[in-house]
Amino acid sequence: MSATDFAFQKSISPDSPETFDIGQVLTSCPRTNDLLDVEYDWNRVAVPSSLREFERRWGNRRDPLDFSGVRRFRELLPFAPDDQIVTIGEGQTILQKCDSVARYVGLKPGGLHLQYEGLNPSGSFKDNGMTAAATHARMVGAKVAACASTGNTSASLAIYAGVSGLFRVIVFVGSGKIAYGKLSQALDYGATTLQIRGDFDDALRQVRDVCRDAGIYLCNSVNPFRLEGQKTIIYRILESLNWEVPDWIVVPGGNLGNSSAFGKALLELKTLGLIETLPRLAVINAAGANTLFELYEQRGLRWNGGRPDQTLVDAFYADMDAKGRRADTLASAIEINRPVNLKKCLRALDACHGIVREANDAEILDAKAMIGAGGFGCEPASAASVAGARLLRQEGIIAPSDRVVCILTGHQLKDPDATVGYHSVDLGSKLADKGVTRRLYQNSPIVVDNDFATIMEAVRRLQVS
Ligand code: F0G
Repeated sequence: MSATDFAFQKSISPDSPETFDIGQVLTSCPRTNDLLDVEYDWNRVAVPSSLREFERRWGNRRDPLDFSGVRRFRELLPFAPDDQIVTIGEGQTILQKCDSVARYVGLKPGGLHLQYEGLNPSGSFKDNGMTAAATHARMVGAKVAACASTGNTSASLAIYAGVSGLFRVIVFVGSGKIAYGKLSQALDYGATTLQIRGDFDDALRQVRDVCRDAGIYLCNSVNPFRLEGQKTIIYRILESLNWEVPDWIVVPGGNLGNSSAFGKALLELKTLGLIETLPRLAVINAAGANTLFELYEQRGLRWNGGRPDQTLVDAFYADMDAKGRRADTLASAIEINRPVNLKKCLRALDACHGIVREANDAEILDAKAMIGAGGFGCEPASAASVAGARLLRQEGIIAPSDRVVCILTGHQLKDPDATVGYHSVDLGSKLADKGVTRRLYQNSPIVVDNDFATIMEAVRRLQVS
């Protein structure tokens, strides 16, 4: 039996029972337009009886499928035959205990872990999903793939196309909306880059229409295969915690693909009897791009058994458009006002007794500086997780003794402008324009004349202070 016989696509809505073959290229249910899941007939999958059985593969690093931090969990995302899998060694990421950040958040020593997804080949968590999307693209014989991106998805898609040579890539980015590290990656890896005069929400709308009309394979997180790969971040967290479930998982929210994938992973593990309890999930928006926070926390939008109140969503977007409100945050990766995975994220929040918070740019950049000083650089959007955990601790929702995992989604070098802007004295004006007037953990360079005595004087002053 082929690995693909027991996998199929299905709408997330309980009102759409029809299923679709995995050979079909779909980004929504053709009838209801709802998001799709990849689902499996688990009775026919050889799933290990314990998560510990995946450890067998640790010693087998010469096999690319066992080396990959995504593919070594392949029985939990079994939609592709082994010979179709596209992997570039993604998912070699670590979960690191960080007591200095634990102190900052207000947790006991040992209570805070950082899941460092910046260690992926393209420097962000997106590679977990892109191995899966690239694999599906190969299965259906796609020759051109595309995505809209705030930068990391495009870097990731570009690297998979470059390494595999399987397809050409067109990436759509908002003009002036993408951090330079990420733009440089897309250009360097040979992707064709379309800079749309607009933002991410505009670029995503355009790329969806273009892909539909031009028969191009779409790699945004509306592609249900991509999210299958992102489930493995959860497996690796559990693995690092000796298969124990933490109290909290805290993740930044942009297009809400990651939080959705986490919810699906956890629900499936529970259904399969591989874990007994679920962690609580906290999704953190940037305050300048806070659609989920507004809808979930302020207006009470809920999963509601798969039938969320669409009128709440429509009214929110109508109001946003009437006021001409666009997403606006220095955490450019999550500068998104119309998260496409909203409903899937509601499902995850429902399953994991979830909570949503917003962090402003000053809080995000202060948290980023603390993470950096703890030895784990990240880009601004990633630091929203730590900023959010701190807020939840201050509110007493996270307890001092809780075990908390914050996801660091992207590498520090993705957005050096944000880091240098925060720390340097003279480059802070862009931050001030965005309302960041205080920089609590500024570590400015010391400017000295090119003169030995003056330099020694500066060094002596440092030694005494
Ligand atoms: N953190 C980083 C570094 C990201 O690049 C993104 C999303 C997120 C968090 C949010 O994740 O969308 O799953 O909720 N970046 C996308 C991109 C939108 O185009 O690279 P999400």
